[in-house]
Amino acid sequence: MNLIKPYTTKIVSRASSTLAACPQTLHVPPSPPWGNTGSTRQPFYMNKTLDDYISQSPTSLTLRQLIFYERHINTERLLKSANYVRTELPIRIAHRIREFQKLPYILGTNPYIEGVYELYWQAFERIRKIPPIETRQENEIFCEILQESLDAHLVVIPQLAKGIVECEQQQVMSMEKLDGFMDATLRSRISRRVLTEHHLVLSDKRKSIFNVCSSHNVLTKCIHLVNASQHEGTAPKITLNGTDTEFQYVSDHVEYIVYQLLSNAFRHSISSTDQPREIKVTTCSNEKDVLFRISDQGGGMCKKEFANIWSYGNFKRFGNMQKVQQLEAKLNEHELLRIRLGIGLPMSKVYAGYFGGSLELYTMEGYGTDAYVRIPRLGNTNENLDD
Ligand code: COI
Repeated sequence: MNLIKPYTTKIVSRASSTLAACPQTLHVPPSPPWGNTGSTRQPFYMNKTLDDYISQSPTSLTLRQLIFYERHINTERLLKSANYVRTELPIRIAHRIREFQKLPYILGTNPYIEGVYELYWQAFERIRKIPPIETRQENEIFCEILQESLDAHLVVIPQLAKGIVECEQQQVMSMEKLDGFMDATLRSRISRRVLTEHHLVLSDKRKSIFNVCSSHNVLTKCIHLVNASQHEGTAPKITLNGTDTEFQYVSDHVEYIVYQLLSNAFRHSISSTDQPREIKVTTCSNEKDVLFRISDQGGGMCKKEFANIWSYGNFKRFGNMQKVQQLEAKLNEHELLRIRLGIGLPMSKVYAGYFGGSLELYTMEGYGTDAYVRIPRLGNTNENLDD
């Protein structure tokens, strides 16, 4: 069985390499209408295929289900997982493709948005055509395809952020609506990557993504990372209080959130005064949740700044082409998350909400900001797959 057909899309290329991936059936009209005009970019029968997948709802899982599955793995369960991922990913990708198609036509022609759209079509076409996986050898090939897909999609976040900022300038859609589109796109991306990585773990291709985390260790590690990334000025003192809790979670997600919040607190504390004031970090837990609070005295935010903290429009203030290129240099997802693109807060909120947690910020202009993170520790909340 030849399952492997390499990725051919060059991101931001306008040529429809989705089509190159399946030349036997497709043909692109010369100037394809795309968007909410009623017609779509792909020829009709391709959208019929898409409709078939969209008519199926994604099967949302809990953290506990995923963790338990990992504990008792054998060939039968491995193949069951492979076939679940094989059938589930195209459903989740199809729903996302449809959301892209609903964007106003002019936004869909933005090269960054279009590049990501094409990547999704390509992944959809490639994965949906994989026949049932019946042996470990077939699973090996499947894992190669999954790994290639994960790598090919590393460019998605910076490309989308750049595209969304350009789209805002077109004034066709409000930033609020664009933010909603980004939230849903990132949420569904996280879900696909978690499923995919989980299957790679089951197949012994990588170490587990669900680690036993200690809230103190998460904070200590992030404090260290933030201190290490600080090159200028006097670093604020960071004190750690509260009680430690152990919980099993996607450690990369918690670390991403805490790191982003700490680095924001750090930056505000340094820029506000000559002598940076202390940052207080507190953690505790109750029966259901692990809680983190990060309090800075960095002067807080004015109403206007605070109103925009969850917007991906902030990418234009902090992101730049150099960073986008850095990201295109195929950093792994972990390294990628450390780069400051100016969209760490909205992304952290999406990460926190994925398994039912939350992130909230309160600010006192003239004094400082408090960030509260709640991470569910029971693992019994379904993945949040809201569109
Ligand atoms: C993404 O990273 O955006 C994905 O959808 C990954 C998936 C195709 C494996």
